[in-house]
Amino acid sequence: MCGIVGYAGAENAVPVLLECLRRLEYRGYDSAGMAVVDQGKTLVRRSVGKLAALETMLGREPLAGATGIGHTRWATHGAPSLKNAHPQQVNDVALVHNGIVENFLELRHELGDEGCVFGSDTDTEVIAQLVAQAMARGATLREGVRAALRRMRGSYALAVLCAREPNQIIAAANGLPLVLGLGCGEVLLGSDVTALLGRTEDAIFLEDGEVAELTSGGARIWNAAGRLVERGPRHVAWSVEQAARGGYKHFMLKEIHEQPRVLGDALGAYLVGDRVALGPEPVDAALARRVNRVVIAACGTSWHAALSGRIAIESLARLPCEAAWAHELRYADSVVDGATLALCVSQSGETADTLAAARELRHRGTPLWAVCNVVSSSLTRAADRTLCMHAGPEISVASTKTYLASMAVLHLVALELGHARGVVAPETLRAAVRALRDIPRALEAALQGEEAIARVAARYADSEHFLFLGRGRNVGTALEGALKLKELAYTHAEGYPAGEMKHGPIALIDDKMPVVVVAPRDHLREKLRSNLIEARARGGRIIGVCELEDRDTVELCDDVLPLPSVDPLISPFAAVVPLQLFAYYVADARGLDVDRPRNLAKSVTVE
Ligand code: AGP
Repeated sequence: MCGIVGYAGAENAVPVLLECLRRLEYRGYDSAGMAVVDQGKTLVRRSVGKLAALETMLGREPLAGATGIGHTRWATHGAPSLKNAHPQQVNDVALVHNGIVENFLELRHELGDEGCVFGSDTDTEVIAQLVAQAMARGATLREGVRAALRRMRGSYALAVLCAREPNQIIAAANGLPLVLGLGCGEVLLGSDVTALLGRTEDAIFLEDGEVAELTSGGARIWNAAGRLVERGPRHVAWSVEQAARGGYKHFMLKEIHEQPRVLGDALGAYLVGDRVALGPEPVDAALARRVNRVVIAACGTSWHAALSGRIAIESLARLPCEAAWAHELRYADSVVDGATLALCVSQSGETADTLAAARELRHRGTPLWAVCNVVSSSLTRAADRTLCMHAGPEISVASTKTYLASMAVLHLVALELGHARGVVAPETLRAAVRALRDIPRALEAALQGEEAIARVAARYADSEHFLFLGRGRNVGTALEGALKLKELAYTHAEGYPAGEMKHGPIALIDDKMPVVVVAPRDHLREKLRSNLIEARARGGRIIGVCELEDRDTVELCDDVLPLPSVDPLISPFAAVVPLQLFAYYVADARGLDVDRPRNLAKSVTVE
C-alpha cells in the first residue's frame, strides 16, 4: 500500500531511486514520483500510472541530485491523479507518505483557516503543510517533522526533504514499515527490504514512533520520546536474484515454479528426521496442556491457507480450531482467553486487519504466534513467536508460494501441538511427516501439467463467470482458485464447498458457467462426484482438477487440469498449483498485467 524509497549518498539519487521503486511497485501503481535537492532547490517529478510513465517523464525532464525520495502510490485519499501523486510539495518541502492521517479533515480545516492553500485532495499534503508551517516559524526539518507528527493521528511511514537542509532526509514510522539500508557512504530507505537489495544487506527496521535522519555519513534514530537510539543493523539474507524475474514472463509464473524449492526450504527448516521441530525448544508442555482452542486470523489468500490449516489442527492436534477473517475477528465478541492459542497468518506481516486482530487477541491474553514471510515485520514484532514461511521475497501481487508455505507451517504446528498434547500416535506422526516431505515432488509433478493447463485456459479465456467447488481440505483450494481468477483476470468467480452448491449456487449453473471441481482421490471423492453429476445435469461445463488415471472422474469432465497422485493430507498443496496456472494463463490470454492487477496492492496496510 504505497512504496517509499530514499537515498542520501554520493551518486545521483535518481537511477538508484528508480531501481528501488521498481522493486516496490507491487505495493501500488496508481501514480509515482520523486523529489531531489539540486543546487539549493527542491525539484519534483510526478506522473499518473505505473512507474514506466515516470521513467518516460524523467527521460524528457531529467533530474539529478545526491539526496532524493520516491514514491509509488496506491490511492486512499484522493483519486489517482497528478495533483494527488507523491511527493506532495509545499514550498521547498517535499514529502512521501504511506498510511492514513485519521484527523486529516480536522487538520485541513485548521490549516485552511490559517490561510494554507491546498493543491491536492490527499491527507499527505496536510503533513507537508504542517512541516512547512513549522519550518516557516524557524524549526529545522527534523523539528518540523516532529511538530507535524504531534498533531497527526493514525499510522504512517514517511520521508521528507527540504532544499534548506540539502543533504538529509527525515523519515518517520508508526505502525507501518520503514527500513534503513546502510551502504558504503550512502544510506537508503525503503518500505521493505526488497527495495534495498543489491546495494546493501545491512538493514535497520524503524520501530513505532521513531524518527530517523539519513545523510551520506550514516543514520541517526530518535525514539518517540526524542532520545537517540543505539541499534545496530540486521543482516538481510534475501538476494537480488531472488527478487528478479529470472527469465520468466511474470513474477507470478516464476513464483509458481519456485514452489517445489520453497516448500523444500520451509519443511527443511522445521523437520528433523521424522520429527517436527518448530524451534530450538519443543512446544512448552504447560502451554500445550493449557490450550484448549486455536484461532487462526488472516485475510485473503492467507485466510484460505488457514482453512486447510484449521482442518489439520483439528484432526492432528485434536483441538477445536476456528479460521477467522481478521477484519471480522477484531470487532467480534469472540470467546478467546489465555487458553486460546492465536495464530496470525500473513505473508507481509503488515496487513492492517491482521495486525489489529493480533493486538486484540493479545489484549485478551492469548499466546500469539505469527506465521509470516517477512521477518522483522510489524506482525512478527507483536508476536510471542514467529514461524517464518521461508518463501523468499514474493513480488507478484497475487500470492502463490506463500500460500503453500503458510499451509505447510500450519500443518507442522498441527503436528507439533498434537505431539506435545500426546494425541498423535507415533505411526500417524511418521506417516504425516512422510506425506509432507513428499510435497516438493508432488508440486514438481503438478507443474508438469502446465502446457495442458495453458491450453484449457485458452479455451475458457472468454468466460465471464466460474464456479469453483471443493470439499473438506480442498474447500480452501476452491476459494483460492476463485480468488486467483478474480484478482488476475477480473472474472467473476465463486468458490464454494461442493455440498453447499445445491443450497443456492446451483441456480447459477448453465452452459455459460464453467464449474471447476477440485477432485482428489480422498474419502470425499464419491460425494464430490455426485455434485459434479448434479452440475453437469444443469448444463455446466466441468473442468476437473483430478488425476488423469481417475477414469470415473475424468469421464464426467469436459476438461481436466491434471493433478498428480498424492496422499490426501497434501492434496491442497498439489491441487492449488493447476488453479494458479489456470488463472495465470486466463489472465495472460486476456493480455492483462498479471503481476500488477488493477486496484490491488501487495500489502493492505489500511483498514
Ligand atoms: C493474495 O493473492 C492477495 N493479494 C491478498 O488476498 C492477500 O493474501 C491478503 O491481502 C493478505 O495479505 P498478507 O498475507 O500479507 O496478510
